[in-house]
Amino acid sequence: MGGPSLRQLHAHHAIHEGGLSGAIDKTEEVEQLLQAGEFEVARQAADHLVDYWVTRILSHADAEEEGFYEEMAGDDPQRRLSVVKLTRDHDILRLIIADIRQELAEEGMTPEVMRQFQALIVVNAIHSREEERLLLEEPRG
Ligand SMILES: [Fe+2]
Ligand SMILES: [Fe+2]
Repeated sequence: MGGPSLRQLHAHHAIHEGGLSGAIDKTEEVEQLLQAGEFEVARQAADHLVDYWVTRILSHADAEEEGFYEEMAGDDPQRRLSVVKLTRDHDILRLIIADIRQELAEEGMTPEVMRQFQALIVVNAIHSREEERLLLEEPRG
């Protein structure tokens, strides 16, 4: 699984950048709707944003765990440890998204939901940077 594009730094980086910039744009939209007092539309936009995280970002994470990580780790103990850490990052994203879904279902749009959406952006940006550094960049030195 994965295909050659995951193994190539520039192609993989482009997937990360595209996913992140879409999430940032959509998060800003939700915030602007809230500021405008459009609570119903903001709620719908928040549901779409959750879908975006699942279909664009979590599906990428799932694909990596279905073979790419294993392939990149091989028998190298350092890389095997990196893959464990990177998989935990994916789990953190999944946990935050599950919390957002629960909060939206039980409380609707709250300031906590917006904090969680912002947290996703930060965690995902750090994760992508670390993934590229640990698995795809040439070792320096
Ligand atoms: Fe990843
Ligand atoms: Fe990735």
